[in-house]
Amino acid sequence: MEVVNERRMKPLNLLEYIHTLEDDRFDLVYPPEIRAVSSVHWTPVIVARRAAEFLVREPGTRVLDIGCGPGKFCIVGALMTEGRFTGVEQRQHLCDLAQSVIGQAKLPNAEIIHGNVTDIEFSNFEAFYLFNPFEENLETTMKIDATVHLSGDLYEKYTEHVARQLALAPLGTRVVTYCGTCEEVPLGYESLDSSLDYSLKFWEKTKNHPVRASSLEAMSPNNKSQFMADAARASGLADRFFG
Ligand SMILES: C[S@@+](CC[C@H](N)C(=O)[O-])C[C@H]1O[C@@H](n2cnc3c(N)ncnc32)[C@H](O)[C@@H]1O
Repeated sequence: MEVVNERRMKPLNLLEYIHTLEDDRFDLVYPPEIRAVSSVHWTPVIVARRAAEFLVREPGTRVLDIGCGPGKFCIVGALMTEGRFTGVEQRQHLCDLAQSVIGQAKLPNAEIIHGNVTDIEFSNFEAFYLFNPFEENLETTMKIDATVHLSGDLYEKYTEHVARQLALAPLGTRVVTYCGTCEEVPLGYESLDSSLDYSLKFWEKTKNHPVRASSLEAMSPNNKSQFMADAARASGLADRFFG
């Protein structure tokens, strides 16, 4: 099989694969070890489409994928909308892969930055996408690989950093979260809609809240209780616990 990075894929195949709605087919642009973790770590195409459509409100909307992996969300978003997609990714080999696919597909509205989310200037973006980027630091999930240091402290640090940056963002800022507890989303963001048993959430900043020294303090009770309510509803316990 022809795969990116081992051997350049025929342009026709690559373009055909990245336009599909089927994840098994899309993932053929990636090498086997990246495909193998796709169902756990990379956004499904259908989710990426819905998220991008919500985030891009007008041509040129700048969207940041926080922890973009091999670029699946950015690639789908750039194909489907007139937004400008930037992914930041800490793992060099995933950046290389994402850049390779974007380059071969000649997508002018997608770019990948190798680095840490803590180095990113959030004011350069109007919208943000998060597929549970920091959970790998906890014991609860399968690891992508051993190329980066992971720890509970880093989970707190990155989550707090993003929550603080989003708290400083202007009214109207849009965020989509896929899976996770949404601890990165601070007070002031309203969940306008959700889908897929509450795992896909569409947020917009509707109120300004003071940014505290610890923004986790500022946002956790709200989103944690909402997460618990959503989870209970999803498992059919809503009547018992929430009337
Ligand atoms: C669950 S994957 C999601 C990938 C992609 N957003 C998608 O939806 O397909 C999370 C990614 O975030 C990256 N990541 C985690 N912490 C990061 C950080 N502090 N800075 C940049 N990337 C990070 C991980 O390396 C991983 O590739």
